[in-house]
Amino acid sequence: MSQSTDATLAPGAAGAEAVDPERRRLLVATCIAGGAASGAVAWPFLASMQPSDRARALGAPVEADISALEPGQQMIVEWQGKPVWIVRRTKEMLATLTQDTAQLADPNSKRSEQPTAAQNEYRSLKPEYLVVVGICTHLGCSPTARFAPNDPSMGPNWPGGFLCPCHGSKFDLAGRVFANMPAPDNLPVPNYKYLSDTKLLIGDETKGA
Ligand code: FES
Repeated sequence: MSQSTDATLAPGAAGAEAVDPERRRLLVATCIAGGAASGAVAWPFLASMQPSDRARALGAPVEADISALEPGQQMIVEWQGKPVWIVRRTKEMLATLTQDTAQLADPNSKRSEQPTAAQNEYRSLKPEYLVVVGICTHLGCSPTARFAPNDPSMGPNWPGGFLCPCHGSKFDLAGRVFANMPAPDNLPVPNYKYLSDTKLLIGDETKGA
């Protein structure tokens, strides 16, 4: 297993320079707290901090056990000090990804960061599971889940997705940013692979399902 990875945001990539390691730790903590609060209302939330401090310091790939993740739920793992979201999307959630893509800034993720194997309409190796780095591509805040479709607080025809609390950027359930938002690009998808049906390795340099 690789002990290091090239999957960090490239120098100059949006969000890369805005989030130093200390801030990333804070982002992870903030993300978990926010998720727990929202989960209490409608969306169950699981937090997982699996790698050892040593592994984190080395930036090693981390394993994520998704066996307890129910449809419609989100969990977070920490990788290289960054929150990585894993969302188990329902059929209804997946259906929103092909609707009204004209509203998106980069619907085909041509200028956004993801491994080749995730360069598809779902931005994932398996449609059911979204894996993205939960750091806004504007200035590095961590967006929060707004999964409920037609949430009146999100404006008309909201399909479900994520909202950045800092300057209001909105992302769909594939991490694609809507047009005319402060964030320029979609949320980055890290390299990852499936070790089994219920276990992911995040940050691995080898790609594939
Ligand atoms: S940091 Fe997310 S919109 Fe500004």
